[in-house]
Amino acid sequence: MKILVATEKPFAPAAVNGIKNEAQAAGHEVVLLEKYTDKQQLLDAVADVDAMIVRSDKVTPEVLDAAKNLKIVIRAGAGYDSIDTAYAKEKGVVVENTPGQNSNAVAELVFGLLVFTVRNFFNGKSGSELKGKKLGILAFGNVGRNVARIAKGFGMDVYAFDEFVPKEKIEEQGVHGVNSRDELFEVCDVVSLHIPATAETRESINYQVVNLMKKGGIVVNTARKEVINEAELIKLLAEREDLKYITDIKPDADEEFRKFEGRYFATPKKMGAQTAEANINAGIAAAKQIVSYFATGDEKFRVNK
Ligand code: 3PG
Repeated sequence: MKILVATEKPFAPAAVNGIKNEAQAAGHEVVLLEKYTDKQQLLDAVADVDAMIVRSDKVTPEVLDAAKNLKIVIRAGAGYDSIDTAYAKEKGVVVENTPGQNSNAVAELVFGLLVFTVRNFFNGKSGSELKGKKLGILAFGNVGRNVARIAKGFGMDVYAFDEFVPKEKIEEQGVHGVNSRDELFEVCDVVSLHIPATAETRESINYQVVNLMKKGGIVVNTARKEVINEAELIKLLAEREDLKYITDIKPDADEEFRKFEGRYFATPKKMGAQTAEANINAGIAAAKQIVSYFATGDEKFRVNK
C-alpha cells in the first residue's frame, strides 16, 4: 500500500524515519509532502495513495474526492476538527487519531507560556510566581491530566472541570473537581483550555465566562482558536485591564489583540506538539495504526464510526 505523509508543518526527521521503518517493515511504501503551500500540491499528492498521515492539515471533501484509492486517514495528534469525518465516512474512509501521543508536549508548553507571562514576558520587571495560585483546567483529557501533573510540581492548587468526566474521577487524581465551567473561571487565577473545537464549544469562551475571573486572571489557550469568541474577548480586555490572554494559536484578530501590550501573547506558529518526542510518538503510532488496519482491519482508534 502507498502511504502519504502530508504535513504542512513537518515532523522532526527522526519521526519521519520512524514512520518509514514501521511502514516499510510491513511492506508498505511511504511518500512525503512537507511544507506545501498550495492546496493543489495536496490534491495531486493524494491521487493514488491508500493511506494518509496528517497533522492539522485540512482534509476536506475536495481532498477526499481527489484521493480515489484512499482507505484510511490518520491524524497524528488529538484534535481532528481539520478533517471532514462525516464525508470521509460517506466515502468509506476510516479516520483515526492518536490520542495521548503528543499531550505531554502541549502540557509542558502551557507552563512555558505561563512562566513567561507571570514574569512580564521577560521584560526585566518584577513579576509573580505560579506556586500557590489556583489553576483551572477546562477539560480533563490527556492534555488536561498532564497539565495537572506538572502544575502540582509548581505547587499550584489545581482545579478541573470536564462535562464528560465525573467530579469523583477528577478528584481521584488529586485535583479539585468543580460543578461547572463557570465555577472554574470564578475560582481560578489561571484557566488553561483543553476543549476540542466542536459545534458545542465554538466561541464558547466569551465575554460572560472570562469576566467571571478574579482580578489579574489569565486565560491560556493551547487548544483551538475556534473556541474563543474573539470579538467578545477583545471587548472584555479593553474593559478590564487586569486580564491576560495567552495563546499557542494565533487568533484571526491577532492585530487587534496586539493592542493589549503586556496582556496578550501568541506564538508565531502553533508549537504545542512541535517536539521531537511528540512527533516520534504520534508519527510512529500513526504508522502502526495503518499497518494494523491493513493487516487485520483493526479500527480501535476510529473516530468516524
Ligand atoms: C493536536 O490536536 O494533536 C494538537 O493540537 C497538535 O496539532 P499539530 O500536530 O498541528 O501540531
